[in-house]
Amino acid sequence: MATTTFSIDASEIRRQFPFFQPHPEMRSLIYLDNAATTQKPYSVIEAVSNFWAHHNANVHRGGHGAGAKASELYEAARQRVAQFLNAREPAEIVFTRGTTEAINLVASSWGEAFVKAGDEVIITEMEHHANLLPWMRLAEKQGATLKVWRITDDGRLNLDDLRTLLTERTRLVAVVHISNVLGVVNPVAEICRLAHDAGALCLVDAAQSVAHMPVDVQAIDCDFLMFSGHKAYGPTGIGALYAKRSLLEAMPPYQVGGGIVKTVSWERLVWSEPPAKFEAGTPPIGEAVGLHAALDFIDSIGRATIEAYEHELTRYALERLQEVPGLRLFGPTPDRAGIFAFMLEDIHPHDIATVLDARDIAIRSGLHCAHPLGARLGGSTARASLAVYNDTAHIDALIEGLHEVRKVFGYV
Ligand code: ALA
Repeated sequence: MATTTFSIDASEIRRQFPFFQPHPEMRSLIYLDNAATTQKPYSVIEAVSNFWAHHNANVHRGGHGAGAKASELYEAARQRVAQFLNAREPAEIVFTRGTTEAINLVASSWGEAFVKAGDEVIITEMEHHANLLPWMRLAEKQGATLKVWRITDDGRLNLDDLRTLLTERTRLVAVVHISNVLGVVNPVAEICRLAHDAGALCLVDAAQSVAHMPVDVQAIDCDFLMFSGHKAYGPTGIGALYAKRSLLEAMPPYQVGGGIVKTVSWERLVWSEPPAKFEAGTPPIGEAVGLHAALDFIDSIGRATIEAYEHELTRYALERLQEVPGLRLFGPTPDRAGIFAFMLEDIHPHDIATVLDARDIAIRSGLHCAHPLGARLGGSTARASLAVYNDTAHIDALIEGLHEVRKVFGYV
């Protein structure tokens, strides 16, 4: 049982989430699958519902008041994201469907314009497919070389290895901030500095970090950074791409359609300024409003406070996981985020998840959309991942559940 006094009362936070209130048709769950998606507070659900109920109109189009109000809410959300990431201006924020679309946007638009045959892109062995497949495809298409920055045996990136990979042909280093499997927090500011010293750009996949720690694009000095709303207490279908303005200005549109041109004639197209140039068609307006509320929720607690709390919880989890015989945890310890991928004896991870589910504990199992990393680790893993509404009782239940899994499979 816990002996430390923790800096957040997670039960107080759970009260802000309908998912954690009793429901006649649903079992009450210990939710430890936050790296896949987080639950949504009432404030987000109400913001979205209020938008659809009272403010629905298309943005940047109609001359009517409802359209003006919807545009105001949509642009306020962009401003909120810019402030949240400490971007220099809202024009550096492009709304996308999520992290995956944002990386595809960069790979297609910037990549096809600026990565030529013989150029190099460096990605790491721990990337999620979202930050892997767009670069594999780009390399194939352009005749460029994809270089893989391997991980150390304890699941870290060694900066000296990057130094040896960088050459004058390197155009980009694309790296995840927090691995969705290893929980390692990569030193992205140093990585971006090394990339820049070599004349390359640096892209940071912040899908697993923005809801768990302060993320400041100017301090990191990344060229591109992206995240998904749904992993940060917000809606699905919305995410954001941050890119330095000069890059957005130089990049061609990703998709083309309504809302991204100043003028069109049969002879000539004149694209709008960024970010409009990258938001063809009707954007996810209600979802952006929900994202705004989600960022307000995070900052109502404070990202430094969340980081400190999840760090305490992670320490506690690491200690307790050691008590389970036959458990092999991946990733570095003790400094890591609250994502714990593990194998237990030779029990299949799907079986672990099934037995835990029967005890109302939700975790994820499989390769976590990071197949090359899975191959390096030796196969599928079970994964528990934390958010600010989790507490030590949840970890205690997980540990008890894992002892039960061992029993069910005859390990006692
Ligand atoms: N990328 C998400 C995960 O790791 C879906 O579960």
